[in-house]
Amino acid sequence: MANPQHLMGTADLSLIEAPVTWRAYMICGFASFGGLLNESILFGYDSGYISGVLAMDYVTEHFGHAVPKDDTNPNGFIIPSSRKSLITSILSAGTFIGALIGGGISERIGRRSTIMLSCLVFAIGVAVQIAAVNTGALVAGRLVAGLGVGGVSATVILYVSEISPRKVRGLLVSVYQWAITIGLLVSSGVDQGCKDLNSRSSYQIPIGLQFIWATILAAGLFLLPESPRYYVRSGRMDDALRSLERVRGQPGSNPAIQAELAEIKANFEYEKQIASTSWIDCFKGGLSPHGNLRRVIAGTCLQMFQQWTGINFIFYYGTTFFKSVGLKNPFLISTIMNIVNVVTTPASFYMIEKFGRRTLLIWGAVSMCICEFIVAIVGVTKTGSQTASTCLIVFTCLYIASFATTWGPAAWVVIGEIYPLPIRAKGVALATASNWLWNCVIAVITPYIVDDDKGNLKVKVFFVWGSALFLCLLFAYFVIPETKGLTLEQVDKMLEESTPTTSAKWRPHDTFAHEMGIIEKDEPNVSMEEHHGKMTAVTEPVGPV
Ligand code: BGC
Repeated sequence: MANPQHLMGTADLSLIEAPVTWRAYMICGFASFGGLLNESILFGYDSGYISGVLAMDYVTEHFGHAVPKDDTNPNGFIIPSSRKSLITSILSAGTFIGALIGGGISERIGRRSTIMLSCLVFAIGVAVQIAAVNTGALVAGRLVAGLGVGGVSATVILYVSEISPRKVRGLLVSVYQWAITIGLLVSSGVDQGCKDLNSRSSYQIPIGLQFIWATILAAGLFLLPESPRYYVRSGRMDDALRSLERVRGQPGSNPAIQAELAEIKANFEYEKQIASTSWIDCFKGGLSPHGNLRRVIAGTCLQMFQQWTGINFIFYYGTTFFKSVGLKNPFLISTIMNIVNVVTTPASFYMIEKFGRRTLLIWGAVSMCICEFIVAIVGVTKTGSQTASTCLIVFTCLYIASFATTWGPAAWVVIGEIYPLPIRAKGVALATASNWLWNCVIAVITPYIVDDDKGNLKVKVFFVWGSALFLCLLFAYFVIPETKGLTLEQVDKMLEESTPTTSAKWRPHDTFAHEMGIIEKDEPNVSMEEHHGKMTAVTEPVGPV
C-alpha cells in the first residue's frame, strides 16, 4: 500500500476523484438509504405522529381539559393551543440544541460515532415518553428524544455528503429527504391505526415503534466506514486512505485514490490558512469570497426559508386544519398528502443532478408560490362547495409535489456542500439547527394564528406562506450558487471565484494539491473524457505510485 504521508498530488482534473465502482455505490447507497431511511424515519416520524396523536379522543381526554360538547369537540375535551404548541414544539427545541452539540462532537469523535451516540440519547427520550402519564413527562421525553434526533440529522447529512461520489452526491442526499417523507407517511398510517384505541396504547405504540428505527440505524453504522474527510481533518492519513478505499471500492495504490486524498488534504491545509476550526471561525471573513460567514448565512437562511415554505403546516396541523375547513375525513386527506410527498420525492434524484440545486430552488419557489396563492384565494372566496374542496385538495397536493421535488431535498443537499472542511461539521450543524429553530417557531405560532379561538386565519394562512415563498425565490436567486457535479473541494474554489448568478458557468481549472505545491507529476495516461466539469478517469491503474 502506498504511504499516505507521501501523497501524490496532481493538476490533472480528471484524477480528482477515484472512479466509482458498483461496490462503492452500494456502500454509499446503504449509508444513505439504510442509514438515512431509518434516521429520517425517526426524524419524520417524530414530527409527523404528533399531529394525529393530538387529535385522538383518548389523548384529548387525558392531556387536555373538559369543555361543553359541540360539533368541533364531540367528545367534550380539548387540548388548549398553548399546550398543543408546547408538546409539538419541544421536540424541535431539543433538536435545535442536539444539532449544535452534534456538530461539535462529530469533529472530536467522528461522524459515525456521533450518529450512534445520538441514537442512544434518542432511545432514552423515547423510553421516557412511553412511561409518561402527564404532560410534564411527555414534554421531557420529547425534549431528550429531540436532542438525539438533532444530533443524528446534522451528522447524517455531513456524513453522506462527505462519502458520496460527486456525480451522485445530490441524489444520495436526496434519498435522505425521501426517507423523511416515508417516515411521515408511516407515522400517519400508524396514527390511523391507533386513533381509535381507547387506552394509553393510542400514543404509546406510535412512540414505541421509534425504538426500531434507532436500533437499526445504530447497528447499521457499525458496518460502515468513517468519513475520510473526518480523518484528514484529524491528521489520521492512514485511516483516511483506508476509508477512501472502502467508500470508493478501489485499492489505495490507485492514483485516483491518492489524488483524491491529496486534494482533500491540500484543501484542508489551504482553508486552515484562512481560518481555523473553532465555532468563532464560522463567523470570520465577512461576506468576502473567502468568508465563512457568507456560507454560514447562506446555509442557515436556506434552512429557515425551507421552513417558511409552510410545509410543516400540512404535516403537523394538517389533520386539524382539514377538519376546521370542513373537509370530510381529515385523517384520510392527511394520508393522501403524505403519499404525494413520498411518491413525488424520487423525481428529485434525477432532477437534482440534471438541472442542479439552484435551478430547483428557484423554480420550486415559483411553483409553490402559485399553488399557495390559489389555495388561499379559493379557500377565502368559495368555501363550502364541493368544487372548492376539490380545488383545495388538488392544489395542496401540487404544492407538496413541488416541495418534494425541489426545496425538500435541495436545501439538505446544498448545506452538505458549501462549507470548507475545517468548519464543515459546525456549518452543517448551524444550518440544521436553523431548520429546527424555525420549525419550532412556526410550530409555536401556527395554532395562534390559525385556530378559531385565536387569530382565526384558517385558510388565509396560505397568503402568509405564499408571500414567504416570494422571499424564498429572491433568496435562491441572489444567494444560492450552483454546486452540481463538483467535488466538495471544487465547490470551495467555485465559491471563491464566482457569484451565485455566475456559479453555474464556473468550471474547475486547477487543484488545491497543485496550488499548494504538493504535485509530483501529472499522469499522462488519464484521459479527460468529458469537458465542463464532467470528467471521467480511466479505471485501469495508471502506473506505479
Ligand atoms: C423538512 C421537514 C419537513 C419534511 C417534509 C424536510 O426537508 O426539513 O421540516 O417535515 O421535509 O417532507
